[in-house]
Amino acid sequence: MAGRGIFAEIMDGDVFKYYVHGQWIKSSSGKACPIMNPTTRKTQFKVQACTQKEVNKVMDIAKTAQKSWAKTPLWKRAELLHKAAAILKQHSAPIAECLVKEIAKPAKDSVTEVIRSGDLVSYCAEEGVRILGEGKFLVSDSFPGNERTKYCLTSKIPLGVVLAIPPFNYPVNLAVSKIAPALIAGNSIVLKPPTQGAVAVLHMVHCFHLAGFPEGLINCVTGKGSEIGDFLTMHPGVNCISFTGGDTGIAISKKAGMIPLQMELGGKDACIVLEDADLDLAAANIVKGGFSYSGQRCTAVKVALVMESIANTLVKKINDRVAKLTVGPPENDSDITPVISESSANYIEGLVMDAKEKGATFCQEYRREGNLIWPLLLDNVRPDMRIAWEEPFGPVLPVIRINSVEEGINHCNASNFGLQGCVFTRDINKAMLVSDAMETGTVQINSAPARGPDHFPFQGLKDSGIGSQGITNSINLMTKVKTTVINLPMPSYTMG
Ligand code: G3H
Repeated sequence: MAGRGIFAEIMDGDVFKYYVHGQWIKSSSGKACPIMNPTTRKTQFKVQACTQKEVNKVMDIAKTAQKSWAKTPLWKRAELLHKAAAILKQHSAPIAECLVKEIAKPAKDSVTEVIRSGDLVSYCAEEGVRILGEGKFLVSDSFPGNERTKYCLTSKIPLGVVLAIPPFNYPVNLAVSKIAPALIAGNSIVLKPPTQGAVAVLHMVHCFHLAGFPEGLINCVTGKGSEIGDFLTMHPGVNCISFTGGDTGIAISKKAGMIPLQMELGGKDACIVLEDADLDLAAANIVKGGFSYSGQRCTAVKVALVMESIANTLVKKINDRVAKLTVGPPENDSDITPVISESSANYIEGLVMDAKEKGATFCQEYRREGNLIWPLLLDNVRPDMRIAWEEPFGPVLPVIRINSVEEGINHCNASNFGLQGCVFTRDINKAMLVSDAMETGTVQINSAPARGPDHFPFQGLKDSGIGSQGITNSINLMTKVKTTVINLPMPSYTMG
């Protein structure tokens, strides 16, 4: 049960506390933010509504804690991260239960998210020790006109305070994918979880607390975006922002100061299926890619671009699999669960109705109860339909029939997004040509888009993001290069 057992101290009455300076406390606002359960559409949890004054205090505390953390030996930082990872995995059940209630993630996927997060933290500790444990040594006479009179030593040093803002769909995993690289690199953390998903995040933070990290190093504030959102992202005490989410990221990047940004925003991930593709493999991946967690993944397949000659066969294979998807509450581990909010369900419905008016072929009847939308494949979608371009973030997948590979690539590249894409073909040469032509951060050959494994580079082009993620790239992004140059006497002086 949420807030029970070892987690009892993170709660006060029926409201979860926030975390600062190694302590769980109540906000002076006396106000709480309700967290809706997407399935019941009733308030499930409440969290503190922190104030701007409290944010200021948190920033000061994080700044001070970072100074001594940066001097803590790398192996000790890694040791604490390993400890936190073990505690996190040990308590995967209650944290997963929060995910089920707050974001309607299917029960098994919720456990997987927590376990994956523990593994990510451990891997990060190991990778950090490796890549931060080495620097560079340069000599000056490799550049024209120079004698060997200078030795240059480079190493990586922390940025300072990292502001981590994860999204609702992976609140735990995408929080630790920011926290762990930041910590191993010697930074401190101010974490602002999404409202839905905040309680799972607070439980995860408590696992780090129990691991024994120094006071003030990790801090977690909750509250309304309208009150503390801009205040956090524009705060002069922040030295790096790592954000995952939607359009808000574009606004943040315009307002943030001259600091490194790591942004993972939306995607309209295209799946191009060529005539020679293994259609069973393609159908399996399109359904898994399009409908896992009800399509609420930035890497979900969001448009299938299928060669006309194979479209009838492929659409039938996809439909056969869609028919087998279970629909219901996350507690039953259903494949399709309620989407995050009523406004999200309304948005998806708007895209579906637009496609209906403009003549798309409905492979299933459109059905919705509350936030629960049944999986829907839309065939014969054309570029004048909104769903050809917009991201439903729901269990609705458009199929556009194409007459040439170029047509598919052009559709993919005309999008404002450029996160991931995939291509299905048995011809590796064609696959490589398509991959080179697709303007996306990653192209998967013969598999659906996906972020993991978590040490792989993960990045979006265009409106899909800034900076590359994945464990190694995140550690590097959360450091800066420091050089020390040793100036030697001129050779003529030493030679006498
Ligand atoms: O929603 C965005 C996530 O980064 C997607 O992660 O590919 O592991 O589902 P995933």
